[in-house]
Amino acid sequence: MYTEKVMDHFTNPRNVGEIENASGVGTVGNAKCGDIMRIYLDIDDSGVIKDVKFKTFGCGAAVATSSMATELVKGKTVNEALQVTNKAVMEALDGLPPVKVHCSLLAEEAIHAALWDYAEKKGIKIEGLEKPKSDIHEGEESEEY
Ligand code: FES
Repeated sequence: MYTEKVMDHFTNPRNVGEIENASGVGTVGNAKCGDIMRIYLDIDDSGVIKDVKFKTFGCGAAVATSSMATELVKGKTVNEALQVTNKAVMEALDGLPPVKVHCSLLAEEAIHAALWDYAEKKGIKIEGLEKPKSDIHEGEESEEY
């Protein structure tokens, strides 16, 4: 049921860990399944994501999507990282089973939450970034899959 890429990122996740004094940290959860994901971003003065780490307490798909999401945002600017949607993460993983789509939303929201935290710390506004929900389940019904 899982693609090879999902299995690869689940068994050998990239960028696991945490960043001390991170530029931005985002934590989101899904109250329905109980899974939690935290993303740390290290962003330099020109707004480029130098490093990114994650910790996920969750299902295999949550681990695989957080791993892929960190790979996709690394080296990108803040604005480019905003374009990394859950659909982009799923495509990069060659797809997820429909019941696991919400896991990729956790990855997208965790990145947004970390970017939001970064913007708040810097006192800046990131165009197109909305205040993230800490529980993605709240908005799940209205999400388009
Ligand atoms: Fe909830 Fe995967 S089952 S994040």
